[in-house]
Amino acid sequence: MTDHGRGHYVDQGDVQGNVLCGYGNDFRCAWYGFALVTEPEAAREWLGRQVEAVTTAVPWSTPPLHTLNVALTHKGLGKIGVPAWLLKTFPQEFQEGMAKRAKCLGDLGDSDPAKWDRQLRGDKAPHILVTVFARTRAALEERRDEIRAGMESGFSLAHEVDAELLEHPLPGAFAREHFGFADGLAQPTIKGNAGPWERPGGGTPVAGGGWEPLAPGEFVLGYVDEDGMYPEAPAQPLGRNGSFTVVRKLKQDVPEFRRFFDEASKKRPGVAEVLEAKMLGRWHDGTPLVLSPDAPDPEVSGDRSRYSSINDFRYSESDAGPLACPLGAHVRRANPRDAFGWEGTLTRRHRIIRRGMPYGPAYDEHEENGIERGLLFICHQASIARQFEVIQRRWLYDGDAFGLGDDKDFLTSAEDGGKMTIQAARPVPPTFLSPQKRFVTLRGGGYFFTPGIAALSALAAADWTGSGQHPPS
Ligand code: HEM
Repeated sequence: MTDHGRGHYVDQGDVQGNVLCGYGNDFRCAWYGFALVTEPEAAREWLGRQVEAVTTAVPWSTPPLHTLNVALTHKGLGKIGVPAWLLKTFPQEFQEGMAKRAKCLGDLGDSDPAKWDRQLRGDKAPHILVTVFARTRAALEERRDEIRAGMESGFSLAHEVDAELLEHPLPGAFAREHFGFADGLAQPTIKGNAGPWERPGGGTPVAGGGWEPLAPGEFVLGYVDEDGMYPEAPAQPLGRNGSFTVVRKLKQDVPEFRRFFDEASKKRPGVAEVLEAKMLGRWHDGTPLVLSPDAPDPEVSGDRSRYSSINDFRYSESDAGPLACPLGAHVRRANPRDAFGWEGTLTRRHRIIRRGMPYGPAYDEHEENGIERGLLFICHQASIARQFEVIQRRWLYDGDAFGLGDDKDFLTSAEDGGKMTIQAARPVPPTFLSPQKRFVTLRGGGYFFTPGIAALSALAAADWTGSGQHPPS
């Protein structure tokens, strides 16, 4: 059903599937190709040939063997011929791109754009991102080779990332990220037909203990958002059914992470597991500290029902408050839910759909030095400035919103020398996680636009008249 943007039913056939569908559970491996446009006409021809194959958000009964999705940066859109008048209608932060916003995002020191992977920075900064998910590695490799061959004319493939879900050692636990935490748990629940995550804890906390799903316009352009307005979007034919996509290649230093927490355990055996959970806000198996402050609870983390309890928690209702989940814990900063008061009204405009995948081999304590691994962090939203940038800049990279002064997110944003405060009940003093070397370093990234399918066809055909909206005279 479509209602042309007036309600909550999105045109699933015109939205790219990676925005609204979590591929991760069905598709265990992924390939990300970052490319530069070298010949605009050949590049557009290639795009035109892909339109039919691009995976949409229409639900499937049997998952395909592989998926295909494409996104372009502002520069990339210009390179394939989008006229200047249309390029100017994109939001300012997207026009500038991630590297230009480094200072306010906290991408400094080793995360500074000047130090990013050579194939992701400067004049190599990608124009297009092609993403393939597959059910098997053989299927992934076959599809990847096909795409590489097809892109030989029109593009130069500058950088490739292979990613794969990591098994969790705890039986029944969700897939994990490299530091060992179950990941991919909390996602926004969306009204109408836009998301399959109809479970408590995904929407906005409302009075009486319930949760209200979010308006699709928070994530897909052309639909009403939480303020009852249409999000800022480029002019037609690009303004409908697209989404803005943030990509960050985040290198994780697992040996340093292990060294830091194992050191703490030497003084007090067993304390590493507790401190790691305090830093994240969840135990390794995904149990939220708010629901179970003293130990992981397999009944919560193992609950796979549609109405599973793993995300069904609030901060203001927790009896133990910050004594259970510290004010600076990663998940509490990244989505404070009702922590600022007024139920969820102060946080509902700052949600993101996360689609990250781990890259690189799982850590082995006997390995040689220098093996790179991390998270290809990807998130989709209607406004990069209001959603990703508020989370990254105001909540992860700054402590003010939580009364924490200079404390930054100890997991992702602390530079060398960062610290974290773990609150305690008076008269016991708080614990401070002491200065550390950074655990996570940004190796490159960008702000992309994931167009709707009709918009993709218009891009391929260089047809800027689709909507009847003409360039300003
Ligand atoms: C290497 C870097 C990162 C790691 C290892 C990491 C790890 C995690 C883990 C383990 C969770 C809990 C499981 C879940 O809810 O899925 C989580 C939740 C979350 N993270 Fe991160 N994360 C990283 C970077 C980021 C960044 C850069 C952002 C945003 C700027 C972010 C935003 C979020 C959000 C919004 C949640 C969900 C919170 C909730 O709704 O309760 N993360 N992360």
